[in-house]
Amino acid sequence: MDKFVIEGGKRLVGDVSVKGAKNSTLPILAATLLAEDEFIIENIPRVRDIFTMKRVLETLGVSISLEDDTIYIDTRGAVGFEAPYNLVKQMRASYYVLGPLLSRLGRTRVSLPGGCAIGPRPIDLHIKGLKALGADISVVHGYIEGYGERLKGSKILLLGPNGPSVGATINTMMAAVKADGVTMIEGAAMEPEVVDVVNFLKRCGADIQGEGTRKIEIRGVKKLSGCKYRVIPDRIEAGTFAVAATITGGDIYLRDVSCNYIGSILSKLKEIGATISLEEDCVGVRMDGDIMPIDIETAPYPGFPTDMQAQFTSLLSLSNGVSVVKDSIFEERFMHVPELVRMGANLKREVDYVIIKGVPCLSGAQVMASDLRASAALLIAGLAAEGTTEISRIYHIDRGYESIETRLATLGAAIWRLKE
Ligand code: EPU
Repeated sequence: MDKFVIEGGKRLVGDVSVKGAKNSTLPILAATLLAEDEFIIENIPRVRDIFTMKRVLETLGVSISLEDDTIYIDTRGAVGFEAPYNLVKQMRASYYVLGPLLSRLGRTRVSLPGGCAIGPRPIDLHIKGLKALGADISVVHGYIEGYGERLKGSKILLLGPNGPSVGATINTMMAAVKADGVTMIEGAAMEPEVVDVVNFLKRCGADIQGEGTRKIEIRGVKKLSGCKYRVIPDRIEAGTFAVAATITGGDIYLRDVSCNYIGSILSKLKEIGATISLEEDCVGVRMDGDIMPIDIETAPYPGFPTDMQAQFTSLLSLSNGVSVVKDSIFEERFMHVPELVRMGANLKREVDYVIIKGVPCLSGAQVMASDLRASAALLIAGLAAEGTTEISRIYHIDRGYESIETRLATLGAAIWRLKE
């Protein structure tokens, strides 16, 4: 298992290009199963989760090749209907083949994702959406089995106890695009990744309205065709670099960003004291002076993203006061807290929030990555800490950030990957 070694205390300065969004690439790749045709998808992040989805699709008979950041797909020979446990256990988002396979083959069998480091991750809303379209879904021997020769449009409320679900909205949409009649999803997720998937489906010939609102209307079409499509930039990667620049008192320029999608992240950075400049698809982030304490509560888009909670917790650990960070989307998403405490942070976790008393400095330590964003938080803390930080289990970081160490090193960070 590889490790990162970081010598903290270097200012990040310079330009960095943001890669394509992992969380829209994953469902877009699965959605290619809805047509029997060829696709070219551009701006693909070369991260571990994408390679896992590639293997899932290959298992189903899809021909797929990745060259640089472009993926070439031919779904004409896809006949498989099963996503096995050994792949789904590596990446929950493998469940994105459920909707497309039901639509294409009238049959699917996908391993039920197991536990997750960020707490319970039920998939009842995915099942509710597919059942509402007439599919017969059951869980047998650890697998979700689905049948449904002819799916039928329906009105579906997809709100869960913690609000809308990105995954259930997308899975249900994908199953509904070729269903008979009209589907109305109420309580839909509004995240940019949902809109990106809809734009892709429309390019393939789908008839969808209302994306980016809480009500999405889908009129079933007979057939979808292949297309060429470019994935949007990753807003969480952009936010992670912006926080890394802020914590090091740096001055960076993020290129290839969708500025519209990162408003809640940038406004929190401004409150903390960073100077933000916006220019079409670029963002400048500069930090001089003290890190100001602020309170944050995660919320569905356009609120502050849960996927940035851990990184801001690291940043606020060095503020000059007391902050409270609450995550009401995934209440157990605090695995980074005890590791940050090992680096000298003064953090107290209550049920679904952390009280952060800012300290003047963090000290490098040996820490362990536990999930994707928690790992990014440790990396950010290591960039600012005094001395050496060693992060183990960095395969979690590799799931969602492409060559992060090389790109941070280009900005001036002292960071190395140790192969073990
Ligand atoms: N939920 C249910 N039932 C369901 C599905 C979700 O109750 O059937 C609950 C969840 O437990 C949670 C809330 O609904 O409390 C929202 O979960 P959502 O379904 O929106 O999350 P997701 O689709 O599983 C995606 C991203 C996550 C990101 C969340 C929230 C992908 C592959 N994953 O997950 O990204 O945190 O949306 O924005 O798109 C990450 O990239 O590190 C990551 C975890």
